[in-house]
Amino acid sequence: MKVKEIINKLAETTCAEREELIFLLKNITPGERELLRAAAQSAARQSFGNKIYIRGLIELTNICKNDCYYCGIRRSNAKAVRYRLSREQILSCCKTGYSLGFRTFVLQGGEDGFYNDDLMCEIVREIKATYPECAVTLSLGERGEESFRRLKEAGADRYLLRHETADEAHYALLHPPEMSLKNRKESLFALKKLGYQTGAGFMVGSPGQTFETLAEDLMFLKELEPQMCGIGPFIPHCDTPFADKPAGGLELTLTLLSVIRLMHPKILLPSTTALGTISPRGREEGILHGANVVMPNLSPAEHRKDYSLYDNKICTGDEAAECIRCLSNRMKNIGYEIVTERGDYK
Ligand code: SAM
Ligand code: FES
Repeated sequence: MKVKEIINKLAETTCAEREELIFLLKNITPGERELLRAAAQSAARQSFGNKIYIRGLIELTNICKNDCYYCGIRRSNAKAVRYRLSREQILSCCKTGYSLGFRTFVLQGGEDGFYNDDLMCEIVREIKATYPECAVTLSLGERGEESFRRLKEAGADRYLLRHETADEAHYALLHPPEMSLKNRKESLFALKKLGYQTGAGFMVGSPGQTFETLAEDLMFLKELEPQMCGIGPFIPHCDTPFADKPAGGLELTLTLLSVIRLMHPKILLPSTTALGTISPRGREEGILHGANVVMPNLSPAEHRKDYSLYDNKICTGDEAAECIRCLSNRMKNIGYEIVTERGDYK
């Protein structure tokens, strides 16, 4: 089968065999890449028109009990300057965000036991009581089914938990032995069952990744059918075991965004900050390849630089208002428009 035929099959049926996905990723030519891009952009346009949803990202804490080898806030990084946002600081971020037009708040952080269920439920309840028309997305790692259930009852709408890689051996290469792909997958299925709009995802170009493991990621996404998917290039952080590993590539990340869009026409697919970090026009390219979401940072400016997952992260010095203006212009320049609706999965 030729790459072009696989692209057509994806566009028409949203499905492909594992071997076909591997073949496409391995052999796609620049001309075929443009074909794929155009098909993905057109699929996104069909689902969302020229609308781009925005999510206000609030980075709660960079304290983490985990030790993922790729991540700058891993517990073994003694150089990280640690912080936690108070309930008041979080609410103040939401207040700023709301006045800037955000109707989704994403509370993301390391796995930090300080934010236990009582505290997190209280925070979620307070945000939902103050801004009933807003969605709350959590991205707080693996907390267990009971915790997910309590947070859902408190009003959380969505949960982002990237699976990172769907290949067992690759997962073990990226994480210490106490972490398991089995738990990750079980968490994701539990989140879906509880009624969360659930987000999976992975880094592109992480050490040990192959076209075969990427095909496994795509097959897993098809099995889970998440409502959201976060993908962005791996970027090394200087104080991690992967400091000397090369970053993931722009082209491959864009190809995968397009493939994911064709396989999941309605999925909420962000053009990530990591993509904007490896290339100045990365986020615009992400949108032109089928993404439909951007996530400007709402975290307090004084802590931005400390939520350092990878080196040279962009927007760490900008105020939220500046970020949204900048992104708004970037989207306008490519014919898209940032909208203030909640942007739920339909
Ligand atoms: N603790 C939560 C979790 O594990 O889902 C949320 C925070 S975690 C830092 C958010 C995401 O950052 C991870 O899922 C991972 O894919 C991404 N990330 C971490 N280190 C990265 C790196 N060096 N390059 C690119 N992305 C990275
Ligand atoms: Fe943050 Fe451009 S999006 S400054």
